[in-house]
Amino acid sequence: RPFVFSSPPLQPFREQLPPLPVLGGTAVEVHASSTMHVFHPDLPASPALGYGGMDYLGPTIEAHVGERTSLTYRNDITSNPLAADVDTRIHGVSEQDRTQVPTSLHLHGGRTPPEFDGHPEDTMRPGQGMVHEFPNRQDACALWYHDHAMGVTRLNIYAGLAGMYLLRDEYDTGQTGNPLGLPAGEFELPLVLQDKNFTDGGRQSVRSNPLNPQGSWEAATPGDVGVVNGKVWPEMPVARGLYRLRMVNAASFSVWNLFFENRMRFWVIGAEGGLLDAPVPTDHVRLGPGERVDLLVDFGALAPGTTVELRNDEPIPAQVAQRGVQIMPRFCRFRVGTAAGFTGGVPETLRGGSRGLAVLPPVARPSVVRNVSVMQLAQGLGQPSPLMSLNNLRYTTDDIEMPRQGTVEQWNIVNVTPEPHPIHLHLVTFRVIGRQAIDTNALMQAVPVPAVGVRWTPSADPFVLGPNLAPQVWESGFKDTVIADANSITRIVVRFPTADELGFDPDATFGMSAAHTMDHSGGGHMEQSSHPLQGYVWHCHMLDHEDHDMMLRYRLVP
Ligand code: C2O
Ligand code: CU
Repeated sequence: RPFVFSSPPLQPFREQLPPLPVLGGTAVEVHASSTMHVFHPDLPASPALGYGGMDYLGPTIEAHVGERTSLTYRNDITSNPLAADVDTRIHGVSEQDRTQVPTSLHLHGGRTPPEFDGHPEDTMRPGQGMVHEFPNRQDACALWYHDHAMGVTRLNIYAGLAGMYLLRDEYDTGQTGNPLGLPAGEFELPLVLQDKNFTDGGRQSVRSNPLNPQGSWEAATPGDVGVVNGKVWPEMPVARGLYRLRMVNAASFSVWNLFFENRMRFWVIGAEGGLLDAPVPTDHVRLGPGERVDLLVDFGALAPGTTVELRNDEPIPAQVAQRGVQIMPRFCRFRVGTAAGFTGGVPETLRGGSRGLAVLPPVARPSVVRNVSVMQLAQGLGQPSPLMSLNNLRYTTDDIEMPRQGTVEQWNIVNVTPEPHPIHLHLVTFRVIGRQAIDTNALMQAVPVPAVGVRWTPSADPFVLGPNLAPQVWESGFKDTVIADANSITRIVVRFPTADELGFDPDATFGMSAAHTMDHSGGGHMEQSSHPLQGYVWHCHMLDHEDHDMMLRYRLVP
């Protein structure tokens, strides 16, 4: 028998893809509140959270490059839809979190001053709030905002605290007739992709493994139902023409390999950090949690009445498949109508055209090479196991990365676990050089892993097994999240901006963290952490993993 929860059978394509409301202007108000949300017409309303008055997810915020956005946030949450799933054994989590949900709003991909970045320790309890100032001094791109509260991020985002944030410039205006000739208005669709499980009673549930008692953190929570913009397997009527799809993987755990059921070709036009030089054709894209892609899809070539499913066939990692988890096969379906749609074709150039946008610069030469490691460590009885770790350290460590402002670094992300992890750095964008398989056993024999809490960041270069594999076409631009594949080195090149370029001090302190106590009752030791709030974090964007403890602080030092 498979050890997996299964949702009640739900008929796909019962509802239309709901458009996400748009919030424009330089001042927006986005409060978080407790709601009831209907994910599917055959399910009762489920307790959820929403931003900005929505009963699940948040409105799409539209911002303009160079114009600051003031986002007024308040935590108005009156009840916690996932109170029973709070695991107080996790770092920074307390009993109080069940009723007084801590939240922290982060703009993912934003070049944001540290005090407005939604630091995981800078949490707001119900009734509290703050104004986030987002400078929007960066290239036009699709960002997303979501909760980032310490130890409960996976619960808050799953419950509904996520939204899109489209940053536009004069080349990518979002208006029909924009100079790049990209589909806009009704022909541009933000798609927030998630997978979920529902209980027999129709509640959304973060649990995936019935052998784990409720309230016990799980390392892997794949869902068996696809949810797009808050609806189960919706259908989208489309006109005959080109569409711009702006997708974000907002899942807790799952990596997806996305394709259309007719295997049609489409074009990648951008990665997380903005547009590519030119559209690149492909017939699939692989997207890990936190990653975004900007795509052009031509429904004009299909006969009216045709339906095309957006599907997924990413294999389930072995240690999860072992308990009977199956691939979640699809997200939504497009139905081609008779109306003529966007009339333009696929543009020949994007950046680098004659229209004034800069070309993607060549990958810069790094002056510092830094090895970092992605690990999974067994934990003793009574503790949530395994411990997901970066560098063999816990979040509480003071042994953090401190890159210098203005330098270019190469990070070799050495993943010694048997599954992929999407690694995300706040504040910066980077380029992917490629991936190379390693002999993990040989590396771990040659450089034994010390006790947890002692850094383990060896070079894996002597243990490579094959050639460096170039990044995929959808990874060729600026990125902020990259899949570090199992038993591999993933190499990225990051330029850490200076305070001058940013227009703010990225190393400013902005308060003191509450002293976090971690009680390892099972392991019999206590850890205390209390430090000035400063800088940023980098972490695995599997929400299950960043909560327990695959996240570290980092500082950009002068
Ligand atoms: Cu999408 Cu640290 O976050
Ligand atoms: Cu991970």
